[in-house]
Amino acid sequence: MMRAMTETTKTTETRKPIVFCSWPFPDAGLSLLREVADMRVWQGTEAAPREALMEALKEADAVFALPPTDRLDSAAMAQAPHLRVISGFGVGYDYVDVAEATRRGILVCNTPGTLTETTADQTWALLLAAARHVARADRYVRSGAWQGYDPMLLLGADVHGATLGIVGLGTIGSAVARRASGFGMRVRYTGRTRRPEAEVALEAEYRSLDDLLRESDFVTINCALTPETRGLIGARELALMKPTAILVNTARGAIVDQRALADALQNGRIAAAGVDVFEQEPISPDDPLLSCETAVLAPHLGSATYATRARMARVAAENIVAALQGKRPKHLVNPQAWHGD
Ligand code: DGY
Repeated sequence: MMRAMTETTKTTETRKPIVFCSWPFPDAGLSLLREVADMRVWQGTEAAPREALMEALKEADAVFALPPTDRLDSAAMAQAPHLRVISGFGVGYDYVDVAEATRRGILVCNTPGTLTETTADQTWALLLAAARHVARADRYVRSGAWQGYDPMLLLGADVHGATLGIVGLGTIGSAVARRASGFGMRVRYTGRTRRPEAEVALEAEYRSLDDLLRESDFVTINCALTPETRGLIGARELALMKPTAILVNTARGAIVDQRALADALQNGRIAAAGVDVFEQEPISPDDPLLSCETAVLAPHLGSATYATRARMARVAAENIVAALQGKRPKHLVNPQAWHGD
């Protein structure tokens, strides 16, 4: 249930910049902002709805945004005459119209490096859970259906010694690859560009997307959502995968055609999936993926540890403080919008 209210702190002296926080973010970030800004903190159990964001933008100098839920598009920016900086609580910035922000001189910031290892851990959590039916097994035991040790019950796939295909060998993809060596896996990757140094360091071999899909036992999606990667994995691509293969997505839901994935799972064209991100969040209650027994689903938990969420909040807040003080933020997505020293 949404609680439509914001926490407001004001001073009567010279006007402090106004920061709209579209979520009651961890105090590691909010405490930094309180020192320099008048805060408008959305106090909901869900993200601030569009109307609240649009209203807040009328006076905000900065937005502490919640990707991928908030939509900072041209209509939102047209509403925001004072807006100087949009700082997202996370790495992905597909929720912002960056070209429009740049045109308006609005700085867009993110938090690279704050969640790499934690998101790689979640990729592995889902990979292992999907391979060994962890969520299904839990449901089975709780249901009371378990009759005793059954040598043929819920057989899964070996992870050790298998071939891992990584779509996007960036920072998170590389962290996923590093973990694969502990499982004695062969690592393949695909992406826009070859990464010769990573190929050596991670013993990863480059493949075209189609070849990677044909060859891999596990495919993990670790690329950013861009116009080029939207819908990258559709029915055609899923059909290239082995019937025993498992797909894991901790990047963005829209990279995978969710209906095609549900169809592939229901028809046994692939064996299982681990899905942390969805085309629409929250997932619609009638989405066919919800009735796929072999899908392990999580509600966008890639970076969900106490330490990482605090780090993300702190770095996102530091970006805002720097921008409001006329300094170049450390993590600027659109350096073209920076006209300072
Ligand atoms: C990110 O960093 O983009 C996470 O998905 C949080 O939105």
